[in-house]
Amino acid sequence: MIEIRNLSKSFIDKNGRVDALKNINLQIEKGDIYGIIGLSGAGKSTLIRCINRLEEPSAGSVLIDDKDIMKLNNEEILKIRRRIGMIFQSFNLLSRRDCSQNVAFPLEVSNYSKEEIKARVNELLGLVGLEDKRHSYPSQLSGGQKQRVAIARALAAKSDILLCDEATSALDPSTTKSILALLKEINKVFGITIILITHQMEVIKEICNKVAVISEGEIVEQGTTFELFSKPSHAVTKRFLSDKSLEGTLSYTPQNSGAELYKLTFLEESAHKPVISQMVKRMDIEVNIIAGHLSSVQGKSYGNLVIEVSGESKIVAEALEYLRENKVFVEVLADYERVE
Ligand SMILES: Nc1ncnc2c1ncn2[C@@H]1O[C@H](COP(=O)(O)OP(=O)(O)O)[C@@H](O)[C@H]1O
Ligand SMILES: [Mg+2]
Repeated sequence: MIEIRNLSKSFIDKNGRVDALKNINLQIEKGDIYGIIGLSGAGKSTLIRCINRLEEPSAGSVLIDDKDIMKLNNEEILKIRRRIGMIFQSFNLLSRRDCSQNVAFPLEVSNYSKEEIKARVNELLGLVGLEDKRHSYPSQLSGGQKQRVAIARALAAKSDILLCDEATSALDPSTTKSILALLKEINKVFGITIILITHQMEVIKEICNKVAVISEGEIVEQGTTFELFSKPSHAVTKRFLSDKSLEGTLSYTPQNSGAELYKLTFLEESAHKPVISQMVKRMDIEVNIIAGHLSSVQGKSYGNLVIEVSGESKIVAEALEYLRENKVFVEVLADYERVE
């Protein structure tokens, strides 16, 4: 388990002080694929670099399997770094070395024998599907192939934690999918814990089981990927989801004066029940359906519906209560364009 406690990091540069991380708390369980999403400059790279002490935190601690990495001596740091592989947007391969020599590099540094290195490199190139490229140089590879070599290299010394800093941001959508599928397989087969930072919600949706949203150095929301997609609560999260959410983009002409708009979220249990028609049958209210969609994240479905409700305020309140009793999450929708 990786536990980040009250972690802060400030930089002093010529323009003064930058508080890149402010009191970050996160718990990453063994075997998680933990996503951290944020805009450019939010502090993602700084955070991930604190986990292997490429960056020295200003305050707080990082515990890996209950060991505070801030208290390790140099030898212990090297040992823990060997457990932690890292991949980057720009691949960072050694251009004068071919694929197998790139993968061999961390093994050479760790004093593996020649035979061990050969066997391990073969095994890893097989794992990432590049056996036939062992003698190719980075310049002869596509972006996706380069990232596969980088993944093999990151795992070479039997790492059990993989840090990914925007690992798919330089790749086209179909290559991104294939790299994410490889990461998922590595996670599943070897139980490797993956921490993945990105500015793309699609990446989170595709493979992460948990996610934290970081904004201006602070974690503003965290939870399971399903919770975050189905019931985002922070404005930044909603903005990341905006292409798929119903807010912000919605423009609508009121059908009844005095009507209010509500956004309903149906989670698994309620997604397939006819609660709206039951509600209209029971109560003396008018309901217009304005927008809606059904989505699924990691095999679980949820739906959002925007409805306009009008009627006597007491009855409207009862109707909304009826929805809540039936496990529908109800919010007043504020963020839309009213076209009178
Ligand atoms: N070495 C540094 N010196 C000064 N400021 C830095 C340094 N590294 C990062 N920062 C600042 O810290 C903030 C977070 O940066 P970073 O972690 O790279 O964000 P992200 O990876 O989310 O784009 C930014 O304002 C950035 O300018
Ligand atoms: Mg970054």
